[in-house]
Amino acid sequence: MGGDGRRALSGLHAAIIMDGNGRWAVARGKSRTAGHLAGADAVRRTVEAAPDHGIDILTLYAFSSDNWRRPPEEVGALMRLLRRYLMAETGRCVENGVRIQVIGRRDRLASSLVREIESAERATSRGEKLWLRIAIDYSARDAILRAALRLRTSLPPGDAAGDSGSQGSQGSQGASPEGRAPHPGAPISREEFSRLVAECPEERAHDVDLLIRTGGEKRLSDFLLWECAYAELIFTERMWPDFGAADLEAAVLEFRHRERRFGTVPAAAAARAAAAGSATSATPATIAISAVRDGGRGAHPDAEIAALAMP
Ligand code: FPP
Repeated sequence: MGGDGRRALSGLHAAIIMDGNGRWAVARGKSRTAGHLAGADAVRRTVEAAPDHGIDILTLYAFSSDNWRRPPEEVGALMRLLRRYLMAETGRCVENGVRIQVIGRRDRLASSLVREIESAERATSRGEKLWLRIAIDYSARDAILRAALRLRTSLPPGDAAGDSGSQGSQGSQGASPEGRAPHPGAPISREEFSRLVAECPEERAHDVDLLIRTGGEKRLSDFLLWECAYAELIFTERMWPDFGAADLEAAVLEFRHRERRFGTVPAAAAARAAAAGSATSATPATIAISAVRDGGRGAHPDAEIAALAMP
């Protein structure tokens, strides 16, 4: 986290696309709204369980910018549900050290919801056990686009001028030197651009480690596209209202068994290629290529490794 004295968050950042509410409800002869209501219970269960599984940042996709295209009754019900959730859960979050933050646009939300968001964020701001980020009217592509626009105009993150997607209260804090967009044309690091994308100059959540999508579909749906560059993706058939602590545990377990290479080589492949190096004059390039080709598990004939060698 940023330089405001809060402890560094060193655990997992999990992000969840909570899909399947509608199908869950229809399969039970209920309204889609009933599905979302049951989905809110799954949110409570997941928030409670997250810290037990080493998660200290949890980002939930509650309402995408494209969800405005749903029938007005469903949109209205979802907005009321989000407000009710914040009203009902803020006290419990304070008690449990959960810090709430809402990401996404606020300028299209009802003022009553914006007030509730601001109040929840204020009340829970000292929470250190879990950083719960709820994405409402969120589009990753819009967030990246806004960051690029700010870069061009050198506006601080979230500055409302020329920025139709400003993030309400976060945006108005955007004048710290470290959060200011670099001078137009100046080189920018990934870290700096990440801060612009996060639209939060003081601190930003580190990249997503683990992305879970429930409901059986296998896509990202414009969620955290920049932050998920190296996320492990876990898709489950479970409909979101049925999701619980055991499913979260299973997902984290699967994540922990995955080997994250970030473009480099697995230790075993590197050792094997290095051992082969005496016979094949392996270079870092051959090591990387062999690791990519066999996923770091199979063995390559020396001739094949040599054929791949770069000068
Ligand atoms: C996608 O399922 C889900 C949503 C668009 C809404 C998610 C909202 C909640 C889980 C409840 C409230 C959230 C919080 C944070 C309190 P879908 O309706 O598209 O399901 P379908 O694919 O089966 O139709």
